[in-house]
Parts: sequence; C-alpha cells; structure tokens
Amino acid sequence: MGTKGRQIVGMDVDKLLDILNQAFADEWLAYYQYWLGAKIVKGPMKDAVASELLLHANEELAHADMLALRIIQLGGTPLISPEAWLKHTHCGYDAPTDPFVKRILSQNIQGEQCAIEVYQKLLQLVKDPDPVTYNLVLTILQQEVEHEEDLQSLDEDIDLLMMRN
Ligand SMILES: [Fe+2]
Ligand SMILES: [Fe+2]
Repeated sequence: MGTKGRQIVGMDVDKLLDILNQAFADEWLAYYQYWLGAKIVKGPMKDAVASELLLHANEELAHADMLALRIIQLGGTPLISPEAWLKHTHCGYDAPTDPFVKRILSQNIQGEQCAIEVYQKLLQLVKDPDPVTYNLVLTILQQEVEHEEDLQSLDEDIDLLMMRN
C-alpha cells in the first residue's frame, strides 16, 4: 500500500475497494465467458467470431490486472477465490450453454452493456475524489465501449450473411 497515495483519495477508501473488487470479479468472469465462448462457438463466421472473442478475453484479463494493481495500491486485497468472484460480481456469469454464434454474441453484448453501466457509474463516483482511479476506469470504459460495438457489428454481418444465403 502507498500511504500517501491512499491518503489523497477524497472518499471512503474501503467503500471504493469494495466497488473495485466487484469490478475485478466481473472481469475474471467476463474473461472466462469469452475464453470459453471462443473455444466452443459454432455457426456462420465462427472463425472471425472466435478470434474477436479471444481478443476480448485477453483485454478483460488486462482489466483484471489493472484493477488488482489499484486495489493493492490502496491497501486492499483482490478477491482470493473464484467463489468470491461469484459472490461479489455485479454483471454475473452467463454460461454459454448454446454454442450458436448469435447466442454467444448476444450473451457477451449483454455483458458489455452491464460493464459499460458499471464503469460509467464508477467514473462519476471517483471523478473528483480520486483522479488516479478515474484515469484507470476511463481506459477500461473506452475498451468496453469498443467491445460492445465490435460484437454488435459482427452480429449484423452474420444477419446479412444469413439473409443472402
Ligand atoms: Fe473489461
Ligand atoms: Fe469488455
């Protein structure tokens, strides 16, 4: 923990740590949902979809990494077990039980939309009291917005392909 770094945060740091750990849980679950989706996805354009899902998986893992570092900086501990991820998650885990491309895409689009809402709220919360977290959350939010659009445009391409066939 950096003592001065923690001291300059102008809000309840323990409350902030809880929220950062919720986001940390969401990122691990999103990572796994994407990673598994990339392995099992089936249907039109599955190769393009799988490579996009894998790219997103790696970016979600990078988000978990950024959040863990910030949690530690602030004197907290990242959630120490997968059971804790499920207990603290905000956006949940939507198991890809149906491997059809459009179903997998729709589940992950929902996940991205939840993440965008969570990070947008967090951004407002830390805007004045904690510019360091603000900067980190802004970086993550920008990528979640990209993710949503990547998936929605793939979904549109699949619709076009299916309509023409
Ligand atoms: Fe993420
Ligand atoms: Fe994402």
